[in-house]
Amino acid sequence: MSPSSITGSGGFAIVIMAAGKGTRLKSRRAKVLHEIAGQPLLAHVINAAKQIVSAEDIYVIVGHQAEAVHKSVEPMGVKFVLQAEQRGTGHAIMCAREEAQRYQNILVLSGDVPLIRPETIARVRDFHLSRKAAMTVLTAEPPDPFGYGRVIRAGAGSDRVKAIVEQKALTKLQQKAREINSGIYAFATKPLFTHINRLTTDNAHHELYLTDMAALLVKAKATVVAIKADEPAEVLGANTLAELSTLDATLRMRKCADLMAGGVTIYRPETCVIDPEVEIGADTILEPFVQVLGKTRIGSDCRIRSFSIISDSQIAGNVLIRPGCIIDQSHIAAGALIGPYSHLRPGSEIGEGVHVGNFVETKKSRLGRGAKANHLTYLGDSDIGAQVNVGAGTITCNYDGVNKHVTVVEEGAFIGSDSTLVAPVRIGKGAYVAAGSTITEDVPADALALGRSRQTTKPGWARQRRENRTKAKAEK
Ligand code: UD1
Ligand code: MG
Repeated sequence: MSPSSITGSGGFAIVIMAAGKGTRLKSRRAKVLHEIAGQPLLAHVINAAKQIVSAEDIYVIVGHQAEAVHKSVEPMGVKFVLQAEQRGTGHAIMCAREEAQRYQNILVLSGDVPLIRPETIARVRDFHLSRKAAMTVLTAEPPDPFGYGRVIRAGAGSDRVKAIVEQKALTKLQQKAREINSGIYAFATKPLFTHINRLTTDNAHHELYLTDMAALLVKAKATVVAIKADEPAEVLGANTLAELSTLDATLRMRKCADLMAGGVTIYRPETCVIDPEVEIGADTILEPFVQVLGKTRIGSDCRIRSFSIISDSQIAGNVLIRPGCIIDQSHIAAGALIGPYSHLRPGSEIGEGVHVGNFVETKKSRLGRGAKANHLTYLGDSDIGAQVNVGAGTITCNYDGVNKHVTVVEEGAFIGSDSTLVAPVRIGKGAYVAAGSTITEDVPADALALGRSRQTTKPGWARQRRENRTKAKAEK
């Protein structure tokens, strides 16, 4: 805890409620661990929170599947509070009392409201301070308010709140209210913890609702105010899998829009899946149904054709990825040409101008500048020199059932089609391997290696066979 957290008027902690089960998802996995845009809901919320306070002033309330939730976001440096039994949002905050009371104010975020922007959290904080409020509620007016708690204001145009009423408790008249509670609040900790014990379970779920603090604080003559988010989409909750998919689509489109603003052409962006940390250079083109995941970086002037999935890889400029490629944890240098249907597994280092063609699989393999492996090949644990030509159907036999071994093919060598290179083995510079060879011994530079049985040709054999058959039939 930093000293300013105790004394400064801006001394805020952020408390994130993430202990609930998420019954409406009908999933075994805790709700906040469900992913949108490639990250758990909770990670999105923490990322936003970290823009406002330092990680050590962020407290995540965990409960349902506490261990899994803890483990998934622990690397983000936040602190944790256990709500062993989930008795509602009000109870969640009660559990964080000891930690929260070290601060004059807290911002409360919901682990299932993941699109919240730091700017909006800051607006809530600033409004809360400027109004010297006991409680500030962030509200919104989405097109369909059903299911959300509604914020009932003291009067038209007033920023004062009278109460927050949950969907199930709305009167006929209140059902018309369009202003929803986002589940995001600021509280002054003193009035909050003076009155929080007055919460009751007198409601549809028999839970302690944090929302009831609004009416309790109003009754205690404290100031409760509301501030509306400009963009309702930002505070949408994720309570069902359908809602999750809507949020995911929103974030994916945002990412595509950012990339397009930076000069990347994306045809049919609604079909593409691009993770938030991906970087792509200007004048690169993404065709429909492309996925670019993880920490992938793609340079300029590339074209990624349909149905390719690229994760955690670095691709330089001017690279063509033809349709249907799977590229994982690999590097591809400028001007390379990959696919269609290539599988680059982790540790593939594809050099400048290399061609990797259809049904070629590489793993932990380096292909030097200008090398070619165009058809039906497996290169595992191999080091392929510059300008090497790997013929169709070539296989590195890298695994002996116990250990993996390395295949080295030196610069300019030519591997004839349908060869098997039994590792460990080295093919020397400029050497030739005859098609259909099984190579078990090193081949010196500039040599020709043949590792196959000699062909036998029997002249007239086929004709003789046909004639024998015709004769046999006539005799029947
Ligand atoms: C809550 C609000 C509702 C608001 C909506 C916005 C209450 C009573 N209602 O409803 O007014 O419109 O959010 O999205 O607060 N949680 C805990 N411990 C618990 C229960 C919940 O940590 O015991 C966490 C959940 O993991 C979740 C958050 O609190 O991240 C909100 O809980 P949820 O059950 O989703 O509340 P809503 O019904 O969405
Ligand atoms: Mg919710």
